[in-house]
Amino acid sequence: MLQSLLHAPAVRALVIQCMSFLLTVLVIRGIWMLTDMPVALVAAVLLQGTIAATLSYWRRLAPWWLPIQFLFPGALMAMLSLSLPPEIFLVLFIFLLGWYWTIFRTQVPFYPSGLPVWEAVADLLPTDRPLHFIDIGSGLGGLVLNLAARRPESILSGIELAPLPWLASWLRARIVHSRARFIRGDYTHLDFAQYDVVFAYLSPAAMLALWEKSRAEMRPGAMLLSYEFPIPGVTADVIVMPQSEGATLYAWRF
Ligand SMILES: C[S@@+](CC[C@H](N)C(=O)[O-])C[C@H]1O[C@@H](n2cnc3c(N)ncnc32)[C@H](O)[C@@H]1O
Repeated sequence: MLQSLLHAPAVRALVIQCMSFLLTVLVIRGIWMLTDMPVALVAAVLLQGTIAATLSYWRRLAPWWLPIQFLFPGALMAMLSLSLPPEIFLVLFIFLLGWYWTIFRTQVPFYPSGLPVWEAVADLLPTDRPLHFIDIGSGLGGLVLNLAARRPESILSGIELAPLPWLASWLRARIVHSRARFIRGDYTHLDFAQYDVVFAYLSPAAMLALWEKSRAEMRPGAMLLSYEFPIPGVTADVIVMPQSEGATLYAWRF
């Protein structure tokens, strides 16, 4: 657990940024001692950004981290210069924590699918029997609520790690008197053998582990669906384009 936390790109980026700050302080102090001239704040900010971007490149962080690392110290200074009340940062921090939770570990942020995807999923579901369906990472619950209205004979569930989206989905189900169930938790702790259909809209970082878990646990006849993200090296049994311009929906049958 600690090992996977330390390898998370966001944690590595943070460690690099802290090291860059220390290196910048050392360089500035060195220049000051040698020349007796203080270094301008802008120069220090640029130096820290450059060191952070260079270290990120050296440590092989994904390319989009480089501009983020370069711009981070400047953005921090710009924000501090606004002299906003500290409570704003606390409220924002609590909101973002509730919304994204441990995204730095899972590398799966929240972004919702829409009606065309829900309709494509509904069309792929077997109609000859009641189903136990789960959306692993159900976000605001749109897909599960939609399917619960279409398939009253089936059990439609969603599991969501982040507290705020889960709370929103739970409240939505109560408000519209839906039979949809929403669990707050981590899908990696579920036993997939209970489900006929598992739907995932996650991220490339999650797909290999998801495939291993599905292969090990899902029953014969069950189906794994993934919107947008394929499983590397595993050909899908069904491929659907919910929208002509949008992403692909993949299905694997066990
Ligand atoms: C791309 S969103 C998809 C939302 C929803 N399925 C939809 O189609 O609108 C992915 C969601 O998965 C959640 N998530 C990421 N890792 C998870 C995990 N291990 N267990 C449960 N939920 C997770 C994230 O918090 C995020 O809300």
